Amino acid sequence: MRFETRAIRVGQEPDPTTGAVIVPIYATSNFVRPTIEHPEKGYTYSRIGNPTRAAAEQCLASLENAKYALLFASGMAAEVALLGLLRPGDHVVCTRDVYGGTVSMWKKLAPQRGISVSYANMLDLNAVADAIQPNTRMLWLESPTNPLTYVLDIRALTALGHEHDLIVVIDNTFATPYLQNPLEMGVDVVVHSATKYLGGHSDILGGALVFNRDDLYEPLSIQQAVGGAILSPFESWLLLRGMKTLAVRMRAHCENATKIARYLAEHPKVERVLYPGLPDHPQHALAKQQMRDFGGMIAVYLKTDRVGTNQFCTSLRLFNLAGSLGGVESLVGFPATMSHESLSPDEQAARGITDNLVRLSIGIEHVDDLIADLEQALATLP
Ligand SMILES: Cc1ncc(COP(=O)(O)O)c(C=O)c1O
Repeated sequence: MRFETRAIRVGQEPDPTTGAVIVPIYATSNFVRPTIEHPEKGYTYSRIGNPTRAAAEQCLASLENAKYALLFASGMAAEVALLGLLRPGDHVVCTRDVYGGTVSMWKKLAPQRGISVSYANMLDLNAVADAIQPNTRMLWLESPTNPLTYVLDIRALTALGHEHDLIVVIDNTFATPYLQNPLEMGVDVVVHSATKYLGGHSDILGGALVFNRDDLYEPLSIQQAVGGAILSPFESWLLLRGMKTLAVRMRAHCENATKIARYLAEHPKVERVLYPGLPDHPQHALAKQQMRDFGGMIAVYLKTDRVGTNQFCTSLRLFNLAGSLGGVESLVGFPATMSHESLSPDEQAARGITDNLVRLSIGIEHVDDLIADLEQALATLP
């Protein structure tokens, strides 16, 4: 079955007891047992397993062409579950360009567990090789990166990681399985914030770990079932509903983002646009080879200062000034005080997160309305 069909059909057989076409919300914490022995139907308690969550897990696994998917209460809960693969004394090499919440995890949770981290510019393979230490156990990728949309060479980085016996993880939130399947490029674990494109409507928080390796199933499912930060039945159901339209939404996000990136690149009040689909994006050729399309996220440096950037953001009428991304509605974000506020001013400067940088999450409204909105907001700049 093709992607669009799997999104609608896998894990979603009509309900065997009632014939319901749509997987029901199994709003139950526990399941009756016919005897004191093992349960007949496999389910005992919804933290350990719930049929609605299982359906969403099966569907997502299928979208990533994977054997396993585990759903968590948020993207960060899924990321923290991966710390369970590490031991005190272990070291991680993380891409320098990475979501701010992931930086918070390395800063605030990893040290308590005796885990250390180095950041490497993953656009430079030698820099990554240099960062690997004898106690390095994990390589943490994100591509395209948040917020600048840099594209990492997933195959080359994975090969390097595996030469050193590292567990290679990638945050695939920006791309979604519709645009790239990192497990097919050798990556060990894909992490998603399902809050974003997978859910697609800015009405859930969710996270996922997706993988093929049998040896990772037990330790990661323990993190889910015993750690307890699971996706609820209702949110699993909303996620299932969201994933059904992932393909059509992603096509619309990509089409709108391409037009908007081209428009902004020509605008006199714009200093620079970073969108993997533009020919002048530094990894455009790699993005063409590694991704099926270029996504809905655009980074824009305005020709203005912080006051002007605030003026732009607050003058937009359709684009909401809000964190998060990947919903059907367009958003504008200011990474310095939003997605990457946990970074110090020096860390922000080193990563190109400046006072004139905005991040656009392009929704699926009519592109002409979005461009008109950008036009009027840019016109307010001196
Ligand atoms: C790339 C990326 N990864 C992970 C996360 C964390 O996900 P959540 O907010 O669902 O915990 C986010 C959230 O913004 C993100 O943008």
